[in-house]
Amino acid sequence: MRNCVILICCVLFNVVQAVEINSPGGKLQLAFRLSDGVPAYSLSSEGKRVIDISRLGFLLADHHDMNGGFSIEKIDSVSFDETWKPVWGEVSEIRNNYNELCASLKDDEGRLMNIRFRLYDDGLGFRYEFPRQHGLAYFFIEEELTEFNLGADCSSFWIPGDYDSNEFVYQKSNLSNLSEVLVEARKSMDSKTIIDNRSVQTPVLFRNDNGMYINIHEAALKDYPSMCLTLQGSSYTFKSNLTPDPKGYKGRIQSGFNTPWRTIIVSDDAAGILESKLVLNLNEPCKLKNTGWIKPMKYIGVWWEMFVPWGSSWNYTDDTNIRLGEYDYSKARPNGRHGANTENVKRYIDFAAEHGFGGVLVEGWNEGWEDWFDKMKFHVFDYKTPYPDFDIELLSDYAESKGVTLIMHHETSGSTMNYERLMPEAYGLMNRYGYKAVKSGYVGRLYPVGEYHYGQTFINHCLYAIEKAAEHNIMVNVHEAPKPTGMHRTYPNYLACESARGTEYEAFAYNKPEHTTILPFTRLIGGPMDYTPGIFQLDFNYYDKNSDKTLSSTLAKQLGLYVVIYSPLQMAADLPKNYERFMDAFQFIKDVPVDWQDTKVLEAEPGEYVTIARKDKKSNDWYVGNTTGENRHVSQLDLDFLDKGKKYKAVIYSDGADAHYRTNPMSYRITEKTVDYRTKIKVAAAPGGGYAISLSEIK
Ligand code: NOJ
Ligand code: CA
Repeated sequence: MRNCVILICCVLFNVVQAVEINSPGGKLQLAFRLSDGVPAYSLSSEGKRVIDISRLGFLLADHHDMNGGFSIEKIDSVSFDETWKPVWGEVSEIRNNYNELCASLKDDEGRLMNIRFRLYDDGLGFRYEFPRQHGLAYFFIEEELTEFNLGADCSSFWIPGDYDSNEFVYQKSNLSNLSEVLVEARKSMDSKTIIDNRSVQTPVLFRNDNGMYINIHEAALKDYPSMCLTLQGSSYTFKSNLTPDPKGYKGRIQSGFNTPWRTIIVSDDAAGILESKLVLNLNEPCKLKNTGWIKPMKYIGVWWEMFVPWGSSWNYTDDTNIRLGEYDYSKARPNGRHGANTENVKRYIDFAAEHGFGGVLVEGWNEGWEDWFDKMKFHVFDYKTPYPDFDIELLSDYAESKGVTLIMHHETSGSTMNYERLMPEAYGLMNRYGYKAVKSGYVGRLYPVGEYHYGQTFINHCLYAIEKAAEHNIMVNVHEAPKPTGMHRTYPNYLACESARGTEYEAFAYNKPEHTTILPFTRLIGGPMDYTPGIFQLDFNYYDKNSDKTLSSTLAKQLGLYVVIYSPLQMAADLPKNYERFMDAFQFIKDVPVDWQDTKVLEAEPGEYVTIARKDKKSNDWYVGNTTGENRHVSQLDLDFLDKGKKYKAVIYSDGADAHYRTNPMSYRITEKTVDYRTKIKVAAAPGGGYAISLSEIK
């Protein structure tokens, strides 16, 4: 570290004090100012506006607010440049290079607050810091006042602001008609907790009148509520809207505390947003001493068969009025549809072993599912009592003998207290039976009553679960989690989370084809998603003659998603028997890695298409994936990313000429050719389609 940031400090008529810094390569400029004691910032890229002057500060409960009356005590600056290696990821090395400015402020009551800015060539992070001090020991936040003034109308890609759910289809609108689109979209959205008609969730993407792409999110969210953004009046300014606790407070703080970072990623083209590592860089380095036990993997599981028509069930019996501990399941009448039975799970283990999958998830293995949704939910599950037809001991030995790990399932039905209380036993049981990973879930309203999925208490609960799991060498995949903010850098056992609308909705509602072209620019900016791709049987008429449902994808697109939607934990979500019908296409899922040494975004436009190439961490092989929106897309791919002097066998899995996500989703073709870094290829994706290419080195 060295002190070399260029500062321009000016005092105009004793009213405005301003300080500016440039990013390391000079691309971005940040200005911080105090205007009549009110802190504000602005951000530009090569002189063009990114964020116009935007206020900073807080409203506090039972205190005087901290939104004015400030003077600058001191300004510190520093430059930082290091390269670090993630335990797993999209690239094997990440450069963390920024210029930092920290403004130490004091208000007219003598209270201290610092605002720390880190300016990168691809964006800005800033946070508030409350040093330990007399006169401000503990306090409650009524609202954070951070603004993001976009300065003019922008096109935007968003899901509605909601304190409790992120499982929405992405919408596209201008800021000027955001409310109109939100009102319309709400008619088909099943959420009672959408905040209002002016709020959106982060990560959110904008394309402004200068043609720049801007992503706003947060990094390193802990011990603080998650942030939505609310559009102010008829302006183009968003203001932060934190998630309240049951009493309405938006953060309970003890001084000696730093807020999460507020992040703004900026790029001249859409691809640059996908390549940014700013959110990860703003998180703390890995806290785990030993990470050798953390292994990215592909998995299959007793899961999708519970979603398809006439499929199996999580529950063992159809009896109702069952309370945990008061019901003798061994005397229950089995419903004959229970998926997590020993024989079925053995078949999944066999299939995983035969085709090289690391894990088998089993949902519905434990008692409580008859009752899980509506009733005394705070003690529905104990995480240790298998149903009578699930032989936990036998299956654990069987999985081990086949070199496969079983993936535990902990549906908490939203009861964080019950889960925390039972965690030592639950993780202990996993260690005893050799389960190396857990999928946890928090369906429905949370208990304690009045808490939200984005609230400070739940944020802390999730982190607690990840830390406790790490103590047991357990990898974690959380469903119904808060949106991720890059914490997997600090806790790499936090492999993935759902935190958006995934494949499951395709079974009982709908996802639009463009959804997966927007996810990389929004939800995935925070971290890997357990999207659960790989559905081959896309036409539900196969299961139910009366169904006219097709999913929002073609088969080839399902393959492309393994590359586009990055996760170190990727499910092959369809039923083994469906893969057996399309073994040639299944080969791509078998081959595609989940850990990478390099990533190149070949072309991207949110809502239209995303094409990404990634290089395997363990070999010279490359894989390409594409997802396409509602309209057909033709890619002209330049394979210049391939290693020079090497030849590759390209296997191209693309949509059939007659493919269409609605009318003919399962039409695909597979072609092969020899290529090198000079080759250019043309591949077409059908409406709602996509493609995948494996490029293996010819030795
Ligand atoms: C919702 C999760 O997203 C899904 O994957 C899971 O199967 C169900 N909850 C049941 O826990
Ligand atoms: Ca879910």
